[in-house]
Amino acid sequence: MRLIFATNNKDKLREVREILSPLGIEVTSQSEAGCSFEAEETGSTFTENARIKARAAMEATGLPAVADDSGIEINALDGGPGIYSSRYGSGRTYRETCLELIDIVDTCQDRGARFRCAVVCVFPDGREITAEGVIEGEIGHVYEGEHGFGYDPIFVPEGFEHTMACLEDDEKNAISHRGRAFRNFAEKLHIFMENGETKE
Ligand code: IMP
Repeated sequence: MRLIFATNNKDKLREVREILSPLGIEVTSQSEAGCSFEAEETGSTFTENARIKARAAMEATGLPAVADDSGIEINALDGGPGIYSSRYGSGRTYRETCLELIDIVDTCQDRGARFRCAVVCVFPDGREITAEGVIEGEIGHVYEGEHGFGYDPIFVPEGFEHTMACLEDDEKNAISHRGRAFRNFAEKLHIFMENGETKE
């Protein structure tokens, strides 16, 4: 089974390939399929934005396409930056933004946070599969770790002492929001392939 993965983010592409290829699903990035556009994320939820990206790639290629939309929700920011995670602090490095977030959270009693990931796969006949994954945790006291990307160096998953950026890729994928969402998606895709039905 081969799907177009609607992303220009190389970190996501690497993670999703590692998650899906053992499950028999190969992904071709949209740029490998000859489309390098960035669909505008005008939705108000992760799922809506994932659907917008997946539809744009499916319409451009005529092939089944999958997209994810993800971000970090921080209690001290009332759930923000959420769907605006990739644009939050724009113009600065992730390190600068992460250090500022630690300062903000340090002034608050609640360090709680979570990563959320929505996955939408659309087929040329209009059918779609959706899935979601969440990992709970908190904003750490220090910036640490060299793996992963984005907000990983300040996110300490529940039950762990160090940040997600201290985990190797395969360890992160085993617990991450993206790992959970794409494994759930893969289960639904296999049912879809066997029965020709989407089971929501
Ligand atoms: P998207 O490409 O619109 O889904 O943006 C996702 C953004 O959320 C990324 O650019 C990161 O800022 C953040 N994000 C999502 N997943 C992760 C992750 O696994 N680690 C760290 N940051 C993430």
